[in-house]
Amino acid sequence: MYGELRSTGKTRSCTRKARNNNGSIRSRPVIPEITRKNMSSYSEAVSTARDYYNSEDADNFYFHVWGGEDIHIGLYESPQEPIAEASRRTVETMAERVAGHLSAADAKLIDLGSGYGGAARLLAGRYGCQVLALNVSEAENARHRQMNRETGLAERIEVVDGNFEDIPDGNARFDVAWSQDAILHSGNRARVLSEIDRVLKPGGELVFTDPMQADDCPDGVLAPALARLHLPSLGSFAFYGDQARSLGWEEVGVVEMTGQLVAHYVRVAEELRARRSGLSELVSEAYVERMLKGLGNWIEAGRKGYLTWGIMHFCKPA
Ligand SMILES: C[S@@+](CC[C@H](N)C(=O)[O-])C[C@H]1O[C@@H](n2cnc3c(N)ncnc32)[C@H](O)[C@@H]1O
Repeated sequence: MYGELRSTGKTRSCTRKARNNNGSIRSRPVIPEITRKNMSSYSEAVSTARDYYNSEDADNFYFHVWGGEDIHIGLYESPQEPIAEASRRTVETMAERVAGHLSAADAKLIDLGSGYGGAARLLAGRYGCQVLALNVSEAENARHRQMNRETGLAERIEVVDGNFEDIPDGNARFDVAWSQDAILHSGNRARVLSEIDRVLKPGGELVFTDPMQADDCPDGVLAPALARLHLPSLGSFAFYGDQARSLGWEEVGVVEMTGQLVAHYVRVAEELRARRSGLSELVSEAYVERMLKGLGNWIEAGRKGYLTWGIMHFCKPA
């Protein structure tokens, strides 16, 4: 493993409730007309993320090259491991942390920035929980709904087009909030966390990952890396820890695994180079060029210790 432990499984001071195929679709499914219905309220950062993930290049790249079901950083046991296997391990590792909550009768989970729904299907299928999968990209959501139908999980997973800065649901509704590599896209991460606090039940838990800047990252050095995703800034372990404290959450565990971020981007770049010639009908050459350059910037910034990544797990007191 490339992982390095920052702190793990601190004794839980938070009162927990006792409750304890990817289809080989070459082209995109028919995407219902991408409506403008909620768009007027979307901030610039949200619209930027939406446009990015809706674009045919990005959708085809993430679906066919990055991993298909799971489009987040993987946990690699060896450097050449298939991206999909390592990515699934991230979901499994996070799931173990909240398994008690998810096994309870009527457990409800919200996945913020749910992509193609790999985690939602694993969690709903394994634990029988109800999942609200909230995601701003209608193109991804169309593929997600299709895969849910194909795997018989459509009843358990509600896929909602929307923005996690303004969660379209009521207060104290969910036992678990889950997010993988999505909150970095927000222009107002403090607001995302306070929305999560609002929709979590007392005693509920948040488990999430996010590519971040290191707590001691020098100013300005991340500009080339941020350009790949059109991001003005990133969160950090210190930022999320401070926000959690200010919301009164207890830290259940924070695991820093920056080596996995580097390993993952190296694997994605290798895979893209190896498959490049066969992708011409799916992804434009210009996009591939930009992506390879962008991945190179993320690998370099990770190796220099400017970027970081890991699993964060907090509990809202009962
Ligand atoms: C790197 S992908 C990760 C997807 C998924 N969590 C996974 O791990 O496979 C980032 C996701 O965040 C979503 N996203 C970005 N900004 C969002 C927002 N403001 N509200 C909801 N989803 C958002 C994108 O549409 C995309 O699906």
